[in-house]
Amino acid sequence: MRDLINTDILSDALAGLTARQKYLSPKWFYDRRGSELFEKITGLTEYYPTRTETSVLRDNASALARLVPEGGALVELGSGASIKTQYLLDAGGHFGAYVPIDISEDFLLTTADNLRSRYPAMAIHPVIGDFTGPVDLPDDVEELPKVGFFPGSTIGNLDPEDAIALLSRARKWDNICAFILGADLVKPIPDLIAAYDDAEGVTAAFNLNILRRLNNEAGADFDLTGFRHEARWCENPARIEMHLVSIRDQVVELGQEQINFAKGESIHTESCRKYTPDTLADMAAAAGWQVDRLLTDKDQRFAVAVMN
Ligand code: SAH
Ligand code: AVI
Repeated sequence: MRDLINTDILSDALAGLTARQKYLSPKWFYDRRGSELFEKITGLTEYYPTRTETSVLRDNASALARLVPEGGALVELGSGASIKTQYLLDAGGHFGAYVPIDISEDFLLTTADNLRSRYPAMAIHPVIGDFTGPVDLPDDVEELPKVGFFPGSTIGNLDPEDAIALLSRARKWDNICAFILGADLVKPIPDLIAAYDDAEGVTAAFNLNILRRLNNEAGADFDLTGFRHEARWCENPARIEMHLVSIRDQVVELGQEQINFAKGESIHTESCRKYTPDTLADMAAAAGWQVDRLLTDKDQRFAVAVMN
């Protein structure tokens, strides 16, 4: 039984669920089921970010691919299913390597196998890693000139200081030429709430998956029907917060601890920061980058920043 416990999740969850405002790190959303649910979210009518960013990447694919020098590498953080990346890979016949980095192990490896069949001439080097700390790149890639790619606005899921720390670490990668960053922009609040609380309940299932994981991998005994999904708009910094709200007083076992929940008390599971061109430029500058070009869609809903 002991061997089945994922001690990383357990210790993280114990710290988060014994804090005054209970929290869990969004990185624990992503086991295979979480990754599949996220892919389902990307196809929802309400969830505009994926299709909007994809249109920006498609329309600018050649220029973005040209940022990678001949034989260089595209290194992607939080690559998921690498779907929108394929516009860059299609335009990047000169790439020496593509390095998708993700924490969702088997989803990443399946994606990498599919990419190898689609791009037989390109070296595909998946890296299972956690980008909230330093990530070791494969030896073959370390010395190559490289461009960082972090789409999806996944940067917005990090606390502001962690986002700056990540961008600062990437700035120090050997032979880094540029960084392409996807960032969701501030927009009317009802559009944002709908994107994070869809009618079909896919986002709710994605949010609740974190409790299912704690049951499966950390030996917890959450009753998933005892919590409901909530998306809240918060100002300063501008963000949606996702919470799981306890629908009754209850006690949950986790490791050796008993975690008490009062009715209405929530677990904060994710922040989804929304940027303006200024707040994006400030974040880049704090990490030693400069935004060279800001590519957006016609309605300015989503931005792709080219930084150097
Ligand atoms: N880039 C894709 C997927 C975004 S979903 C897109 O834009 O559609 C966020 C991705 O980041 C998931 O694949 C998830 O597994 C990964 N991820 C989340 N936290 C991570 C972390 N701390 N380290 C590495 N990967 C992480
Ligand atoms: C991965 N990340 C950028 C998504 C977002 O929009 O912040 C995760 C997500 N959470 C709920 N829906 C999608």
